[in-house]
Amino acid sequence: MALTYANYLQVEKLLELQTPQSSPPEHDEMLFIVIHQTYELWFRLMLHELDGVCRDFSANRLYAAIHTWKRLRTIMKTLVGQLDILETMTPMSFTSFRSRLETASGFQSAQFREFEFALGYKRPEMMKPAAGEPAGLKRMESRLHSRSVMDHFYDYLEHQGVEIPRPLRDKPLESPTQPNAQIQEALFRLYKSPSHQESVILFELMTDFDEGQQEWRYRHVKAVERTIGNKEGTGGSLGVEFLKRSLFQPVFPDLWAIRHRL
Ligand code: HEM
Repeated sequence: MALTYANYLQVEKLLELQTPQSSPPEHDEMLFIVIHQTYELWFRLMLHELDGVCRDFSANRLYAAIHTWKRLRTIMKTLVGQLDILETMTPMSFTSFRSRLETASGFQSAQFREFEFALGYKRPEMMKPAAGEPAGLKRMESRLHSRSVMDHFYDYLEHQGVEIPRPLRDKPLESPTQPNAQIQEALFRLYKSPSHQESVILFELMTDFDEGQQEWRYRHVKAVERTIGNKEGTGGSLGVEFLKRSLFQPVFPDLWAIRHRL
């Protein structure tokens, strides 16, 4: 069979994947499904791009890494922007089908946890909500036990002559990124060094991306607040109160810690 637009992209299969639960049908449930599926696809691409960045960092390929961070930053902005579409759904409209979601929640997104783990924001306890999905669990575990983007970033810094403190190299793969004063000093020196200004472009793109992921958390919690107020989440958390705890958490803390000195 000749390759066509429809069979290459498996469009018919894709169109079978939206299965609203409400009966009689609630108009906005389609929006709710499509927007979540769209996010999952973008998560998939971001994980793919982060894998590429890790390889580039370890091989000291600065330009390739810059190129990919530009893409990642742009996807992140798109993810933030898409929340505007979700916010066209009123609380009344969401209430009309919310009970049909039972305990389903973004809390159970295995790819979102993979994304956090890949970036070095490792909280193994957060795998619990998605533990019922064997394929997702396997992927989350693999990410948890793998080197994060930050570990590969240390490889890149080493290529630039930075001595990476032993405790950072020896830390268990499962532990989260910790801010480190020596790394901050090294970043500061690179920022000020005329011969490392191309690395500075990279650091700024990573900062953009980090700001983007924090922005997503903020916009998501506001979307949640305007839609369900202080109700508990379908995933069983306190809802808005729970989500507020991860606001303003950078994934690259060392890049933020030096900004007042630049
Ligand atoms: C009206 C729409 C939405 C509501 C009311 C909502 C509500 C919530 C609530 C209450 C939580 C906390 C966990 C729980 O108890 O359920 C949560 C977590 C989460 N939601 Fe949403 N959400 C909405 C849209 C979205 C969208 C479009 C996405 C895109 C993927 C998403 C992804 C997530 C993720 C990844 C978490 C886990 C966050 C974390 O653990 O830090 N949500 N959501």
